[in-house]
Amino acid sequence: MQSDIIIIGGGLIGCSIAIELAKGGLKVSVFDRGQLMKEASWAAAGMLAPQSELNAITPMFLLCQKSLQLYKGFVSKLQEFTGLDPCYRNEGFLQLAFEETAKALDKNMAWQIDAGLRVEKLTSSQLKKLSPTVSNKVASAYYLPDEHQVDNRKLAECILTMAEMVGVKFYLGAQVTEICIEQNKVVGIVANGERYYSAKVVNAAGSWASLFNLPKHFLPEVKPVRGQMIALKTEAGTLEHTLHFGSIYLVPRKDGKIIIGSTTEHVGYDKRVTPQGLEVLLSQAQKIVPKLASASFIEAWAGLRPATSDLLPVLGEHPQLPGLIFATGHYRNGILLTPITSSLITDFIVTGQTSEMLEDFSPSRFMLTAKAS
Ligand code: GLY
Repeated sequence: MQSDIIIIGGGLIGCSIAIELAKGGLKVSVFDRGQLMKEASWAAAGMLAPQSELNAITPMFLLCQKSLQLYKGFVSKLQEFTGLDPCYRNEGFLQLAFEETAKALDKNMAWQIDAGLRVEKLTSSQLKKLSPTVSNKVASAYYLPDEHQVDNRKLAECILTMAEMVGVKFYLGAQVTEICIEQNKVVGIVANGERYYSAKVVNAAGSWASLFNLPKHFLPEVKPVRGQMIALKTEAGTLEHTLHFGSIYLVPRKDGKIIIGSTTEHVGYDKRVTPQGLEVLLSQAQKIVPKLASASFIEAWAGLRPATSDLLPVLGEHPQLPGLIFATGHYRNGILLTPITSSLITDFIVTGQTSEMLEDFSPSRFMLTAKAS
């Protein structure tokens, strides 16, 4: 079976690249080891929040910021084509701290203010007005108007609908075991024991991106980092803004559902939800919004964030294996980085030109100089 492009990984990143390429008339096949959109894309909370996730103006921050700027157009186009609403929200975030961590929060906000990012210090009465259900014990509060959110599961539905509309071919339950190389060039893959041909293979396999047959020094190492999550049902309007305090966040959906995240655990491919994880999330959530003590429990789950050793994504072509292109390792920012990743990787595949924005994320930073055998 011959495709113009093979994409390994049917999450938001893989499928959005597939859409762009298929729209341009290319024959695109997406292989997923399980079901589409059921790993990090599904497990996330959908925060679009460079200021909350990063702590300096770095190339990564700029990449995230650029992607955030693209988001509105990205979701509008999807909505226009599919008729589905991915529930993009731009109410902004509240960064909160109790007495014991107030100084740390002030310091964290200071670099953002120095860098000219929009951050507003709130008095307690301003906080009460903006978010009446937040605890009276909050000692420090800031409003970040430029941090947004999207319902990642709804976005996934939109993207899958769109992918079908533009003719992307999907192979599900397709375990890719081999990326085939001949004369130092990519020629295809082996999935479930069968060979599929393409001169271009995009590795968008998230936490599974380094589990193929190439020698280790030909693949950047991507490891899973577990995040446990909980969803509660409250009355619509209980929260309007995403709340962020320490490592915990509460992301409100329009219908009253509140997503609480998350733990950061190095436990391999273990997606269990644990009493300890749940306890941390629930106790912190109730501390910041006491009313949540009487909310209804909907579900709990865990996802695996794909992390490289420097916690930066791997984007671009392998320096020694033309045709092997990486779009993985997005760690905590996969939902946020979907539009920019799909745009830059598609441009590279179509034009052969690498954008300057990709330079700091090249796979070459992980490669040794050995040649493929
Ligand atoms: N971006 C949120 C998280 O990774 O927990």
